[in-house]
Amino acid sequence: MSLQGKNILLGITGGIAAYKTPFIVRLLVKEGAHVRVIMTEAAKDFVTPLTLATVSKNEVLTSFIIESKEKLQKLNWNNHVEIAKWADYILIVPATANTLSKMAFGTCDNFLTAVYLSADCPVYFAPAMDLDMYRHPSVSESFKKLESFGNVMIPAGYGELASGLVGQGRMAEPEEIVEFLKNDIQSKLPLRNKKMLITAGPTYEAIDPVRFIGNHSSGKMGYALAEQAALLGAEVTLISGPTHLKPSSSSIKLERVTSAQEMYEVAHQYFENMDIVIMSAAVADYCPSEIADQKIKKKAQEMQINLVKTKDILASLGSIKKNQFLVGFALETENEIENAKSKLKKKNLDLIVLNSLRDEGAGFQADTNKVTLISKDNKITPFAVKPKEEVAIDILEYIINHA
Ligand code: CTP
Repeated sequence: MSLQGKNILLGITGGIAAYKTPFIVRLLVKEGAHVRVIMTEAAKDFVTPLTLATVSKNEVLTSFIIESKEKLQKLNWNNHVEIAKWADYILIVPATANTLSKMAFGTCDNFLTAVYLSADCPVYFAPAMDLDMYRHPSVSESFKKLESFGNVMIPAGYGELASGLVGQGRMAEPEEIVEFLKNDIQSKLPLRNKKMLITAGPTYEAIDPVRFIGNHSSGKMGYALAEQAALLGAEVTLISGPTHLKPSSSSIKLERVTSAQEMYEVAHQYFENMDIVIMSAAVADYCPSEIADQKIKKKAQEMQINLVKTKDILASLGSIKKNQFLVGFALETENEIENAKSKLKKKNLDLIVLNSLRDEGAGFQADTNKVTLISKDNKITPFAVKPKEEVAIDILEYIINHA
């Protein structure tokens, strides 16, 4: 599980453990996360905003009003809603009894609690307080209430406390907090423990050592599916025909192939152990019956290339499928729904993704696509034109709910 590209909002409240928060920011930034920090007034007594701004590479937010030397007349405030919506995760560290109680009861008297109430992302809190405070029934009530809202507690550890007392209340160490966050996110991803095979791009069918028959598929749809599936926790193998694209996630296993026959062989190598298989490649339907050993010289005015059918990879997987959820693509220009339905049946699929070339914003090369999903029980779900990343999410969400 990687925090690469995630937006993490760190809320720091006023406890001595606040002095450890720059280390947490460093660890999150090292993981590739974007970090923004909100501090309460009390937190500033324990660690400086300058330190946190430096390590997070972002201005630290402390209040609604942005203080400016010129005392500008114009509206100059931090928008708590905008910041709450920016966050993929909120981490309140250290979480004092005071702030936890405010969060539990909806008290909204500072910037951090306003952001907390405006957020709809997962919230984690790492309590830190002295022994008797930690076990006070009112604090236990706050823990329970917050957990009943779906907030996740990163439990305090046992050890020597700032007061000199020994017991529970010591904030988890920075490394433990970041590990906890990563493990918890991973354990909740909808495609965790799922093995997925995705094909993408065109295939090139060689005519001679320098020429081939190909198509204009860019591979963008298949790569977007692979990337989004990996973000949702799947273990992804991507079989890609020739494209210039590279998967952005290092967790995607990439198998590059050139021809339909190679794609067929590699797909069959992996198929048995897969849970979900999506064939979005634009596989050539025909290939030259023979590949010339040497470059073909131009001679006659006309020439013929004899073509033979390639193996239909999708149909062959459909014929041997056991528990795999098998998804195909159909690119149609007329009688779209009927043609797609008959492909779904003929190739024994669970779902077919229909692209119509009659739809604007759909098809090869574009950054957008417009799809209609047709399930094996004939349920038809159309979607609007969207960027391919969002189309990928729609397709994967459908699979998550139906596989
Ligand atoms: N496909 C495949 N192997 C092939 C041809 C197609 O696996 N040799 C897969 C594609 O990856 C896609 C689906 O089959 O998921 C639909 O491909 P398409 O070319 O639209 O359909 P065909 O069955 O080839 O029918 P037609 O060309 O007549 O529309």
